[in-house]
Amino acid sequence: SPPKTITIEGRTYPLDSHMNTPPAILANIPRRLHLQKDHPLSITRQIIESRFPDHKRHNALFPVVSVHQNFDSLGFAPDHPGRAPSDTYYINKDTVLRTHTSAHEADTFRANESAGYLISADVYRRDAVDRSHYPVFHQMEGAQTWDRRNFSPYVSLADAIWADVEALPKHDIDVEDPNPTIHPERNPLQRAHHSPEEVEAIAAHLKRSLELVVVEIFTHAQRAAAGTDETASREPLRVRWVEAFFPFTSPSWELEVFWQGDWLEVLGCGVTKQDILIDAGVPERVGWAFGLGLERIAMLLFDIPDIRLFWSKDARFLSQFKEPDGKGEESGMMWDVKRFQSFSKYPAAPRDVAFWLPSTTSPAGGQLPATSGVPRQFHENDVMEVVREVAGSAVEDVRLVDEFVHPKTGRKSLCYRVNYRSLERTFTAEEVNALHEKLRKRLTEDLGVELR
Ligand code: PHE
Repeated sequence: SPPKTITIEGRTYPLDSHMNTPPAILANIPRRLHLQKDHPLSITRQIIESRFPDHKRHNALFPVVSVHQNFDSLGFAPDHPGRAPSDTYYINKDTVLRTHTSAHEADTFRANESAGYLISADVYRRDAVDRSHYPVFHQMEGAQTWDRRNFSPYVSLADAIWADVEALPKHDIDVEDPNPTIHPERNPLQRAHHSPEEVEAIAAHLKRSLELVVVEIFTHAQRAAAGTDETASREPLRVRWVEAFFPFTSPSWELEVFWQGDWLEVLGCGVTKQDILIDAGVPERVGWAFGLGLERIAMLLFDIPDIRLFWSKDARFLSQFKEPDGKGEESGMMWDVKRFQSFSKYPAAPRDVAFWLPSTTSPAGGQLPATSGVPRQFHENDVMEVVREVAGSAVEDVRLVDEFVHPKTGRKSLCYRVNYRSLERTFTAEEVNALHEKLRKRLTEDLGVELR
């Protein structure tokens, strides 16, 4: 009979039918790339940390959290799609691998150790397989709060926050911010808790602080790009704020940067929902929070073309990056960011796999066999998971190339193109064929599909 518990780095959890986390995913937990010396994710983390010298760092929080921490404590609705087993790795009904660093917000506010904090950590999401998605990635979360009780009618909370805004460094980039701070439908004020003046001040502090992060990063990125390419951007940095929605902030924004011809989303943020602070036992505190993905920023900072490279143990990757000796921020030393020199790209080997979904009364697609836990609808992420289990990082991407519904039977057929490519060597045709054969077999076994 299957094991009743699982032990992850010395902590034991009961198992149930919700368990959908493969061993290969759990095997990533000990890597802690954001703390590995000279690793580009660790360098990126430290460059951003240098902008928040007084924020308390939390860099070793355990990745297994409760559903309450990851979703409920943050106000996610009971039917929020992020909770679906197609998107989230469950250990059991009440326990998940955190899908974002926000899972630690409530506990960190409750500990109330400092007015500002930064959390850097590995996070886990079932997702597509391509060059910018990996089921494990790294985020940094930051927050800053002010205690109302420190202020009086003579110096209001809003005035005090504006004084802190004035004390922040200035920058000279061109920021587009066309929307009002508060919009009654799209980006509402938490009327029961904040005055519009307070939110204007918090938003100004939040936006200036994060613009400074982006200036720091992109100054390095542009300098590194210019070092290798004479024509590279001497153009001024363009940055814009767009309205956003998160269950745990209001109002909320995303910050986008114009990079190599496209607007790139770099972070999400907003005014922290007061209910989170109230539930955390610090009702008198008000403030902001942000979250960003370290891979996305490191990829553009170091010009790294494929997210799998971060997991490489190949010296040709790792030896390219060096932290300065001693603390960069303390000695005033500049981070020496070098563009990644690609070791020659080995050839890609595409293979297609076509299959019929299990027939079902539902037009949306087949039903997964009950062996994998609760029966549920076919989801593309299930294909992605099987690919990762069979081939790991031997696959660069997986794309749906054809979709067909049989006119008589109504059965649906899908064809995926699996692009095999190693980052480290050339695969032989036999190796690729063997992997693909194994994949075909596992798709029928795990998903109950019928190969064509
Ligand atoms: N947790 C959010 C995400 O993963 C980012 C975020 C953090 C947004 C904090 C607002 C405040 O997308």
